[in-house]
Amino acid sequence: MARWAYVNGRYLPHPQARVHIEDRGFQFADGVYEVVGVVEGRMVDREGHIARLLRSLGELRMAMPVTLAVLDLIMRELIRRNGVRNGHIYLQITRGVAPRDFKFPKNARPTLVMTTRDVGKFATPAQLENGVSVITIPDIRWLRRDIKSVALLPNVLGKQQAVEAGAFEAWQVDGDGMVNEGCSSNAWIVTADGTLVTRQTDHLILAGITRASMLTLAESAGIKVEIRRFSVAEAYAAREAFLSSATTFAMPITRIDGRAIGDGKPGPVARRLRSAYFEVVCGQPS
Ligand code: PDD
Repeated sequence: MARWAYVNGRYLPHPQARVHIEDRGFQFADGVYEVVGVVEGRMVDREGHIARLLRSLGELRMAMPVTLAVLDLIMRELIRRNGVRNGHIYLQITRGVAPRDFKFPKNARPTLVMTTRDVGKFATPAQLENGVSVITIPDIRWLRRDIKSVALLPNVLGKQQAVEAGAFEAWQVDGDGMVNEGCSSNAWIVTADGTLVTRQTDHLILAGITRASMLTLAESAGIKVEIRRFSVAEAYAAREAFLSSATTFAMPITRIDGRAIGDGKPGPVARRLRSAYFEVVCGQPS
């Protein structure tokens, strides 16, 4: 099937989809993005992602190039054209094309692009059966990680380091040994007494949309939740660990820096939240 992308008002065959070399996204990473999960052809947690997109744009004083109704229409049309069943839609808005100059351009029109990806299955049987491993690395990012900016170089380097260490993700750790978040996911543990812990959201981490849904699900399941920082040492000693994002949902973690977590198998809380997310938020059996 032909693959389509969306670029500034046009649906183009994916290989021909391009933006100008003086796009500020290309030259300055002057742009924001969202990744919205698609489950059985339907977008998941769409409202949350759009609300975060508007917030990111606002923080960077960038304009939304189309109305929200049109944005929604384009997203649905691209998913339809590409026949996406299970995967995600990627949306990026930059400050537009202008001669290279650091300050905001006066008359640039924002660039809006979208692509989709069908992943087939969201996780391999081995990942669900055995969980994944993470490593910990220093968090070297800027101080506005609440903005979903396309400036992702530290995340790229961290993820590459994880892959080279045979791990799925790298947890970025602050100077006090506290876990901030993964390179493209939020971080969670379940303590020995069964309390679910995830870091509070502020300017130092991204407020994950999947994280917010998981918290609601955990509360309605009667799971004790603490929103606070946790250390790498606490994570090593945890009964369970997992990560969350729009592309992985709740993914169980069974090794951190090579140490087995809990009994070394995916834990019940991660499993439960994963299936609850599919059933309640996606309206699909997991
Ligand atoms: N990343 N933290 C970071 C740094 C992220 O990049 C992401 C998402 C998350 C999880 O947020 P959400 O639940 O809204 O997906 C947390 C996306 C998936 C990406 O960049 O591909």
